[in-house]
Amino acid sequence: MTDRLILVLDEGTTSTRAMLFGGDGRQHGVAQQDLTQHYPKPGWVEHDAGEIWERTLACAQAMVEKAGGADRIAAIGITNQRETVVAWDKETGEPLCRAIVWQDRRTAEFCAQLKAAGHEEMVRGKTGLLLDPYFSATKMRWLLDNEPEVAKAAQDGRLAFGTVESWLVFKLAGGLHITDASNASRTLLLALDGEGFDLELCDLFGIPPAALPEVVDNAGMLGVAAPGLLGAPIPITGMAGDQQAATIGQGCLAPGDTKVTYGTGAFILTCTGSELPHSDNRLLGTVLCELGRERSYAVEGSVFVAGSLIKWLRDSLGVIETAHETEDLARSIEDSGGVVIVPAHTGLGAPHWQPDARGAITGLTFATGKAHLARAALEAMSYQTYDLARAYAADGVEWTSLRIDGGMSANDWMVQDIADLLDLPVTRPAFVETTALGAAMLAAVGSGLHPSLGAAAAEMIGETSSFTPQMDAARRETRLAAWAEALAKV
Ligand code: G3P
Repeated sequence: MTDRLILVLDEGTTSTRAMLFGGDGRQHGVAQQDLTQHYPKPGWVEHDAGEIWERTLACAQAMVEKAGGADRIAAIGITNQRETVVAWDKETGEPLCRAIVWQDRRTAEFCAQLKAAGHEEMVRGKTGLLLDPYFSATKMRWLLDNEPEVAKAAQDGRLAFGTVESWLVFKLAGGLHITDASNASRTLLLALDGEGFDLELCDLFGIPPAALPEVVDNAGMLGVAAPGLLGAPIPITGMAGDQQAATIGQGCLAPGDTKVTYGTGAFILTCTGSELPHSDNRLLGTVLCELGRERSYAVEGSVFVAGSLIKWLRDSLGVIETAHETEDLARSIEDSGGVVIVPAHTGLGAPHWQPDARGAITGLTFATGKAHLARAALEAMSYQTYDLARAYAADGVEWTSLRIDGGMSANDWMVQDIADLLDLPVTRPAFVETTALGAAMLAAVGSGLHPSLGAAAAEMIGETSSFTPQMDAARRETRLAAWAEALAKV
């Protein structure tokens, strides 16, 4: 083991960060910059890929300086918001238009057409995913049809499509066009057990295979950062979509192990090991990790709105000044006063899959104050998680405990409410940045710092604390009935 550090680039939906980790999992520094959110029309969400690159690079450079120079860094790990599509010119390395973000609903009609034409079964059977605008392929198609620069680049053989890790590696490693299996499995273009992108799927969505990256493992010698950027040719040895990285960072490596991350959205993943995932209840199958060309898988429940609801209460409505005041506000009252928030601001994800649903607040009276809204917003996290627990149970997967993480999980009131509403013990690591930790673990394995993910987990994952359920059944039933009633209205 060396005492050199791992540099993780953690590019999320609302901010991008760089972090330094030791081989023991200890964090040695973090730099963060916010990302501009563009909402050109209702239901549309875009990012500036140039900004993503510049801000990620600036954070990485700050961490190289903090480490004491590039020769103090053994390896780079990358993790990212998934599904978001970047289109760029392979020759100039410049984006051709804004990136379409995973939350964007503009392709709902195209998905409905494909569904009506009877394609969902084939797509689901191959990819584990459903025909929903969430995933990348219909966004790529939209860009080809609506952005003349993208169509022209495709014609000339200059077009590169990729999710965000692919874009960052292209910029970082001087034009290398790769993606990892976990990110590739979110595009609708990768068969869960297929090696490269699937030609039948490319044909269905009308995506030119030549524009797509090569699908590679999640760890290994994946590429090398150009020396001019960070001061030395540092190897990139780990890469994964953020939810898969968080699953690894929580040590959910054995079948049945389950984690939920409350970030911009909330994402539950249950590891299925080498067994291909399957759901009869509209959960997703996804690649958890590929090492040495061997894949492990997970069943996923994706909730589109979690932390973004709190951000909306703060930035758009001005109901709160900071996210963490929601905890005191929730504690200051006995209940939400009948207020229920259904956070369908970007449609509903699993297990409902209603792209056209929109958010609702029910039960408002003149007695409603900001504490009720804050409490209802936190309660919505428990309800959405509960709906997923039911879908997993209907698939025959009964959780015995749940590992929780992500920025919102710092809120003790919310974590206790989730334990109460699900009637399930919940554990939370002391270090909740499991996404970045998972990317560091992959980079550690890929660079040979640790021999396996199991060994990395044993060395790098720290302490946890537990929350045990305390709510009585009658109260739980009353609350769930109120949620069901509100949900039926959207
Ligand atoms: O699938 C979308 C997901 O990767 C976004 O993650 O961390 O921005 O909530 P996050």
